[in-house]
Amino acid sequence: MVRLGVNVDHVSTLREARKTYEPDPVAAAIAVEMAGADQVTIHLREDRRHIQNRDARLIREVVHTAMNLEMAMTPEMQEIALALHPDSITLVPEKREEITTEGGLDLINAGAIVNEVIGTMKSAGIKPCAFLDPDIEQIKQAAYLQFAAVEIHTGSYANAKGAEKAEELQKIKDTAIAVRHLGMIAHAGHGLDYHNVRAVAVIPEIEELNIGHSILARAVFVGLDVAVRDMLRLMGR
Ligand code: PXP
Repeated sequence: MVRLGVNVDHVSTLREARKTYEPDPVAAAIAVEMAGADQVTIHLREDRRHIQNRDARLIREVVHTAMNLEMAMTPEMQEIALALHPDSITLVPEKREEITTEGGLDLINAGAIVNEVIGTMKSAGIKPCAFLDPDIEQIKQAAYLQFAAVEIHTGSYANAKGAEKAEELQKIKDTAIAVRHLGMIAHAGHGLDYHNVRAVAVIPEIEELNIGHSILARAVFVGLDVAVRDMLRLMGR
């Protein structure tokens, strides 16, 4: 059974558009859990463009399934992660000018901080995961660094058209096999929606999907509860 983590960042994006108090991502976290999601994912960005420290703190309190914190590899974020104690962290690259996370991490040139983050998280009992492109060299490096899990970046698959789509899907399948073979847990996410999710959800090696934008976009019209349930159904749940 593939687990669903719902990324509620964009509830905060809407709130921050007016710098007001609504809609509240804390309410969204409760709603997605009640609809059957297995995890709430948030990305506390360095520029705080959507999720705020207060959101992260309260979401940690109200979530009873699992909480996954996406974060950049910085000392500030390490400190916050240790205080929050999410069930898992997913390390992502972060650039201030990007609209969303654009590519996977480059673990080969990441330097010593990556060892430090993995060690610190593991000794605190927090599962470290790396967000990586479907690239075998990066996957091998993640295994060498002893990450517990890899989230495979599905953005290129989501954006591909025609014959390229099948090629990108095959890359995800091969990568998921490699992740498992190297003793790590395979997650996937980015750009997954109601049209492209099924092909990824049926890959047997993939244990978790993290999906945000498409679920919240649908929720505007049908409500968050129905949007989450529709996604779960497409995932075979
Ligand atoms: N996984 C990671 C690591 C991400 O950075 C994001 C976007 O915040 C997602 C999954 C969710 O992507 P989307 O909003 O396109 O579903």
